[in-house]
Amino acid sequence: MFKFLQDKLVCPLCHGELKWAVLEESPTRIIKADISCISCGEEYSVRDQVVNFLINSKAEPDLWQTGEDNLERFFKLNPEIRARLMVAPFEEMSAADMYVKAMLLEKEGNEKEAEKLMNIATINAYTKEMLDATDKEFKYLINLLRKQSQFVVDIASGPGVLVKQILQNTDLKVVITDLSMSIIKRTYNSLIKEGYGERITFIAFDARTTPFRNNSVPIITSFVGLQNIDNPDNIISELKRISSGEFYSVCSFCSEDDDINRADLRKSGIESMYLKKKHVDEFVNNGWKVELLNPILAKSSPTPMSKILPNVGVDGFPVADGIFEHCIVKASVLL
Ligand SMILES: C[S@@+](CC[C@H](N)C(=O)[O-])C[C@H]1O[C@@H](n2cnc3c(N)ncnc32)[C@H](O)[C@@H]1O
Repeated sequence: MFKFLQDKLVCPLCHGELKWAVLEESPTRIIKADISCISCGEEYSVRDQVVNFLINSKAEPDLWQTGEDNLERFFKLNPEIRARLMVAPFEEMSAADMYVKAMLLEKEGNEKEAEKLMNIATINAYTKEMLDATDKEFKYLINLLRKQSQFVVDIASGPGVLVKQILQNTDLKVVITDLSMSIIKRTYNSLIKEGYGERITFIAFDARTTPFRNNSVPIITSFVGLQNIDNPDNIISELKRISSGEFYSVCSFCSEDDDINRADLRKSGIESMYLKKKHVDEFVNNGWKVELLNPILAKSSPTPMSKILPNVGVDGFPVADGIFEHCIVKASVLL
């Protein structure tokens, strides 16, 4: 973990001060440490530079790990399906099959082939309009970030699609965060192998209860991060608490008249995150100044299910074709 972050961190549960027992360090990094809260006694740790600020009493299932475990169990019981997937020609595979095969290739250590297949899967999973819109949002955001000189905290970094854009196109240091320790470890391994080790730090935490001190983070970013968080009730006020500058969120919004997709979002409890007016109102009600930058309309379609594995898909949303508005929500702290 970057040592310069140490002063900015407090207990995510009660915001009390932390006691650090540093067990291994370099001049700029904490490599191994035991951390405890002086106020409430909750315990955290740093292992192999990855900080674990997940709160034990509020543990959420690690959905990336569950997905991987389920697939592993399925392939153990059905080795012939695994064998079929590994030799299937492109025309017999959907994007979902390609993602699963890429994951297996990565596990086998064949990272180059895995990355190639992952890129082909992405082109096959999403509409061209949607991918072009996302690309344009990334370019727009990168131009804004190039003017910054401090570090970035990326929320719900997952496989690190946005983080890679920031690392490739700016000189900024990036704090990579997620609720899932297993996706953090995967993203960590891939970015270290790509040579970004000097510029990255990983912290596992729930974005609804972050370990940052009030007004301590100059730039926060997220790519469809907030829109993937269950029960996101207090997330916008939590990000406001820790921000000392700006929050840039790459979002896509559902049309007000898209009844089918809205009904699905409502069922999952995240409809307000996908409705532009409600989303913006929530920022404003929490004391942020909001601008919507670079709006682009693009069609999205449901992502394909596997042709080889039963009930395996890519994304659960959208559930029907729809026109989505992509943009960057720029929220600034009012002085
Ligand atoms: C699909 S990813 C978003 C894409 C990602 N930002 C990127 O650039 O590749 C969504 C991530 O949100 C994470 N997540 C879900 N709930 C969360 C929470 N409460 N706090 C932090 N991360 C969360 C998931 O583990 C998942 O990795």
